[in-house]
Amino acid sequence: MTESKKYITAIEHTIFEYISKAASNLQLETYVIGGFVRDFFLKRGTPKDIDIVAIGSGIDLANEVAKLLPNKPKVQVFKTYGTAMLRFDDIEVEFVGARKESYNEDSRNPVVEDGTLEDDQNRRDFTINALALSLNKTDFGALLDPFNGMQDLVDKIIRTPLNPDITYSDDPLRMMRAIRFATQLGFTIEKDSLDAISRNAERIDIITRERIVDELNKIMLSEVPSVGFILLDDTNLLERFLPELTNLKGVEEVEGQKHKDNFYHTFEVVDNISKNTKDLWLRWAALLHDIGKAPTKKFHKTLGWTFHGHEFVGSKMVYKLFKRLRLPMNNKMKFVQKMVLLSSRPIVLATEVTDSAVRRLIFDAGDDVESLMTLCEADITTKNPNRFKKYHKNFEIVRNKIKEVEERDHVRNFQPPISGELIMETFNLTPCREIGQIKDAIKEAILEGEIPNEYEAAYEFMLKRAKKLGLKV
Ligand code: CTP
Repeated sequence: MTESKKYITAIEHTIFEYISKAASNLQLETYVIGGFVRDFFLKRGTPKDIDIVAIGSGIDLANEVAKLLPNKPKVQVFKTYGTAMLRFDDIEVEFVGARKESYNEDSRNPVVEDGTLEDDQNRRDFTINALALSLNKTDFGALLDPFNGMQDLVDKIIRTPLNPDITYSDDPLRMMRAIRFATQLGFTIEKDSLDAISRNAERIDIITRERIVDELNKIMLSEVPSVGFILLDDTNLLERFLPELTNLKGVEEVEGQKHKDNFYHTFEVVDNISKNTKDLWLRWAALLHDIGKAPTKKFHKTLGWTFHGHEFVGSKMVYKLFKRLRLPMNNKMKFVQKMVLLSSRPIVLATEVTDSAVRRLIFDAGDDVESLMTLCEADITTKNPNRFKKYHKNFEIVRNKIKEVEERDHVRNFQPPISGELIMETFNLTPCREIGQIKDAIKEAILEGEIPNEYEAAYEFMLKRAKKLGLKV
């Protein structure tokens, strides 16, 4: 056998000395495997977790490492999976005994038997994730790469160690992982693998939505998320958990009039926004900003294609979609709803920038007005360079106007200067409709610029309005 190459620099971190010592104390063959090794070769920066595989009990090894470590960390044991985890220097170290596994048809829970390192590498998802480095005294740092994962790293290829139908069917989450790695790393999924994903797409239904969303979020946070979404669509996975998006597909033509393909347009918007924000939820807003267009699409003889009220319908759909995918039902969901609801407002503004329209936009968007502008700028996907320039220029005018109006009128998170209580006190009223009418009229007058956003002016305005309603001080 040829001596395998050693990569000592990969395992210079002191944690490996302790693991190696513990392994030798217990006389367990031990390796570091998976993402840590892959990312070392890809130079992907400092790792947050390390996976250790022992030929024997991973739990025993974890306990021995904890004993040796100066900070004596707590070992978390997951008995059902035969794994254990401890933390050292902000790094999560996970220990597992080498396994031979087969999965049953309708769950991800495997039937586990002890195995050799090679058995363990066989049951991993991709050749680039099956690379292992020895932590054993005799060949510390030696690379064990039975499937030529190093070559796949160089060629930028995602390939499964076994027949892909088996690897994906065993754990269908791996279909999402393949697409996620392809997107994050700029790799290509090998053809047999891609075909196997298409064939096994419906097996994704046995995966919990939380895990699907976890992968989706990683795709969403990649540099060019469309790569992942288009692969998800090509393999028929997307329609299984985001039919709202696949329903946007296609261009219809009636009487020579076409509308744009909102499906591909959406991905362009997501890619555009990803150049300007790392905010996951703003990226989700970009992904969902047009979902209301499928149910609202109509063809009118005079108007052509319309999507009336799609922003409102879309924002309602966001609620259902978040609930179904178990995305957070908190202020993140509300933020996405708000972005979808307001997504056409600045575009309307861009043709005519009036003070009052800008004031209303700031009032409605509040602290999210900058995010909204970022979304609307990303929404410009016209291929006509003159129009592209013009729209961006108009948005620059809107942004400047927002600054100017903000400095002058302070309508962001605006609280009307006259409260309901003051109206009640002034006119000696018990709760009634007129109070709301006066309050609304004051708000409208401020937003329209009829009066400044100040107490005296609003008080005067209140008196006049109350008089019209027949109220007396
Ligand atoms: N693994 C697998 N099948 C899965 C999940 C993980 O075979 N469905 C294996 C792979 O060998 C992987 C390792 O377990 O490298 C660790 O998994 P995990 O920590 O989830 O992923 P990483 O590969 O480390 O990558 P990332 O941290 O980017 O998720």
